Amino acid sequence: MSVRPVLVVGAAGRVGGAVVASLRSREVPVRALVRDPAALRARRVGVEVARLDLRDPSTFAGAVAGGGALFVVRPPAIARVGPTVNAFVDAAVAAGVDHAVLASVAGADGNRLVPHHRIETHLRATGVAHTLLRPGFFAQNLLGPYREDIRRDDRLYVPAGRGQVAFVDVRDIGEVAAQVLVEPSGHVGAAYELTGPQAVTFDEVAALLSDALGRPIRYEPASALGYARHLRRDGLPLAQTLVQTVLHVGLRRGDAAAVDPTLGRLLGHQPRTVADVIADHTHLWRPER
Ligand SMILES: NC(=O)c1ccc[n+]([C@@H]2O[C@H](COP(=O)([O-])OP(=O)(O)OC[C@H]3O[C@@H](n4cnc5c(N)ncnc54)[C@H](OP(=O)(O)O)[C@@H]3O)[C@@H](O)[C@H]2O)c1
Repeated sequence: MSVRPVLVVGAAGRVGGAVVASLRSREVPVRALVRDPAALRARRVGVEVARLDLRDPSTFAGAVAGGGALFVVRPPAIARVGPTVNAFVDAAVAAGVDHAVLASVAGADGNRLVPHHRIETHLRATGVAHTLLRPGFFAQNLLGPYREDIRRDDRLYVPAGRGQVAFVDVRDIGEVAAQVLVEPSGHVGAAYELTGPQAVTFDEVAALLSDALGRPIRYEPASALGYARHLRRDGLPLAQTLVQTVLHVGLRRGDAAAVDPTLGRLLGHQPRTVADVIADHTHLWRPER
């Protein structure tokens, strides 16, 4: 009998991609669910690939058929989770998925404003065995949203004041997700807050970048308005701009400063630090020639 594949939503993205990589390294059968299967196949990820567009329910049945477990993440562009993520979860449960792992966000249980709260609530209501991962701020934001500011302008420009951030490495989240998907026992019904092992300010991140890149990178604290304008100039839709600005301003109050030991406990070793993430990706911030 063939083993049913783990279904991975957002498999071309940061968290989903890390989950696929960790499952692959354990030789677990995976079905990567993406909007553009040809693009992912071209990257030779070495797993089964199927089409899923969370905004198109006609893609749900083919994506979930025969799936064993489910990893689900909310794509940042999706705010209305009812007809999209939650409807897809229903389809997966109806198709017989026996365990779902949700990549949520830190504090989602107490914050009704974030879409993740509604997904968590819905997942619980389905009755399927599930595990909630609630990560804090991603260190990989340095490689995505902050990358061009660093590469082009030698600066970090966020409205975080002097707040500390316990940056978490997405690769560690992928590892924990894979662990829980492969061996759910002891994790069913659990909710894990996942942070990195230390909290640092953006000044400290800028110093780490400067050391690693061999050129000065400065932290320029942005105003909330200045940051929102900056994101809009870079083409981010208004709704996402507002969410990102609110989240970053919250860093001033220390919203993401608390270090939680859970990630290290689950991994069985020290989680990666922001310095590790920088050291592993210095090529991404080389200035254009
Ligand atoms: N950034 C942080 O610091 C942070 C911290 C904690 C939690 N989070 C949460 O983590 C999640 C973001 O994860 P991420 O960084 O992995 O995001 P990501 O890299 O942007 O990946 C999201 C993936 O979702 C896919 N996608 C977009 N629209 C889709 C649709 N309609 N149907 C199916 N797939 C779709 C995208 O595929 P395409 O390749 O086709 O675009 C992409 O691969 C969000 O829920 C965010 O709130 C973020």
